[in-house]
Amino acid sequence: MCGIVGYTGGRRASEIIYEGLKQLEYRGYDSAGIATLSGGNITVVKRQGRVNALENCIGDISGSTGIGHTRWATHGKPSDINAHPHSAGKFAVVHNGIIENYAYLKERFFKDVSFTSQTDSEIIVRLLDAFYSGNLLSAINKVGSLLKGSYAIVVMCTDFNGLVVLKYNNPAIIGYGSGENFIASDCPALAGLCSEITIPEDGDIAFVTKDGVEIYDAGLNRVERPRLENLATPASLELGDCPHYMLKEIREVPASVEGTVLSYRTAEAKLKRVVNGVKRVIIIGCGTAYNSGLVAKRYIESFARIPAEAEIAGEFRYKNPIITADTLVIAISQSGETADTVEGVKLCKSLGAKVIAVTNSPYSGITRYADAVAPVTAGSEICVAATKSYTGQITALYLLAHTIAGLSIGEAYARLAVMPSLCKKTLECAGIDTLADMCARSGGVYFLGRDIDCAVAAEGSLKLKEVSYVPCEGYPAGELKHGTLALIDIKAVAVVIITSKHLAGKSENAVEQVLSRRGKVAIISNIDGIEKTFEGRAQVIKIPACDENLSPLLSAIAVQLLAYKTALLLDRDPDKPRNLAKSVTVE
Ligand code: M6R
Repeated sequence: MCGIVGYTGGRRASEIIYEGLKQLEYRGYDSAGIATLSGGNITVVKRQGRVNALENCIGDISGSTGIGHTRWATHGKPSDINAHPHSAGKFAVVHNGIIENYAYLKERFFKDVSFTSQTDSEIIVRLLDAFYSGNLLSAINKVGSLLKGSYAIVVMCTDFNGLVVLKYNNPAIIGYGSGENFIASDCPALAGLCSEITIPEDGDIAFVTKDGVEIYDAGLNRVERPRLENLATPASLELGDCPHYMLKEIREVPASVEGTVLSYRTAEAKLKRVVNGVKRVIIIGCGTAYNSGLVAKRYIESFARIPAEAEIAGEFRYKNPIITADTLVIAISQSGETADTVEGVKLCKSLGAKVIAVTNSPYSGITRYADAVAPVTAGSEICVAATKSYTGQITALYLLAHTIAGLSIGEAYARLAVMPSLCKKTLECAGIDTLADMCARSGGVYFLGRDIDCAVAAEGSLKLKEVSYVPCEGYPAGELKHGTLALIDIKAVAVVIITSKHLAGKSENAVEQVLSRRGKVAIISNIDGIEKTFEGRAQVIKIPACDENLSPLLSAIAVQLLAYKTALLLDRDPDKPRNLAKSVTVE
């Protein structure tokens, strides 16, 4: 959450930073700001609203060194004043994360000082101003030693012609140019600007000038960190002929399945070694990643016949989990930076578990602690709502479950080989517009299913509520009659997913129960003859027939398109839903 950009070089910093912030807007979009250094002076502009609220000011701020920020508010409402950068004396800073002890630090060092903003971040710049007496490294080190919480901070000081990065538990990436260097929260903001990057470690302090980068570790020793290839390309950020990233990314589901299969082949040998001797599996993740864990649980239990639990990472890390040396933890995260998931991984490692990260971000925090990575190769996902990363995760998890079970991976590859073309067919399936119209007018939408369909129902509900703001629930179809049925009336819509043949009859009972209470029903199914059974009573969205275990790849496309189309009918911005951010790097 929050995107930060820094630039130092020979070009107009404000323009480069503005473009970078637009690429990072998915990390937060309630306010934005830029500060530049020119002639020994710092100029700050900041505005409530999206990054384009800065467009008219870009020309007014000169300087070839600068910092920028796009905010997702944690402390203090979205406003011009609470927007970053924050400045005091010779300093301006941008911050991503939370300073948990800001109130204590304020009371201790600035008892009678009234702060300008309501943010936790202002304490950083106040402390820098108070502790600086000519030695920047020592002042930044001192401030870092006082802060508790998580942070990626970029500091600009009128005495230094460059930028300083300080990082702990939040992402910061340094990009190398020629006669210029860059800083960003994530690789997409650097796409097309630099092909090489470095990722500082927690506790590092990095001095970035136009001519080079010097990094000091937490003990203030000069250290070298590896240079890596920047995998993000400008092409991955283009919308093409799609009006929104959400639609573009749903259309990229077939490619995410294909790409993930290819990359699994390269990771397979190492994954096989890590899963050797595993007796129990715990899967952790948040939001959509947790929902793909629900599918993985079913794969692992049915293929390997060992117990598997899917846990919400933010709950799991505080419940004193039982971990033994033969426990495998699978941590799922598109961004690889979700704070709860990364902390869950660290906890499991400290308790002796083996950890496999399933992620779309090869250099992310989660990969640094894992024993092995099952890569998701979905490409950059910009829309806040996860779509192609979910199907990429399911693909990787399907293969990983085969590896855990010691089943023929060749047969799994063969079953997956047909899926991209079936995904393409699903993108064309009829009836979603009508269902979107039903959902947009409804008083509430209930996604129902059994077994693997129930896992997709949870994701359908999350997707629809996230982008349309229509109240939704994802529920086991058989559980409906134990309470939720009380909510069904003429305004309710049930979306029942039926792809498990052996449970189809049971799910059909739920359809009948909703219809009997005058609720409207749509069925997403690939079961032959289902249209006939419900002719004139329920709308059926027919998806292609496929291997039963892989049906989530297709039913997911249907629920994603449904969410997208409902959002448009209700005039929502599907790419940037209210109150949310893509990468949740705070607790
Ligand atoms: O980057 P992660 O996969 O760890 O993110 C986890 C959730 O924040 C994320 O899936 C969220 O639920 C999505 N916005 C859902 O569409």
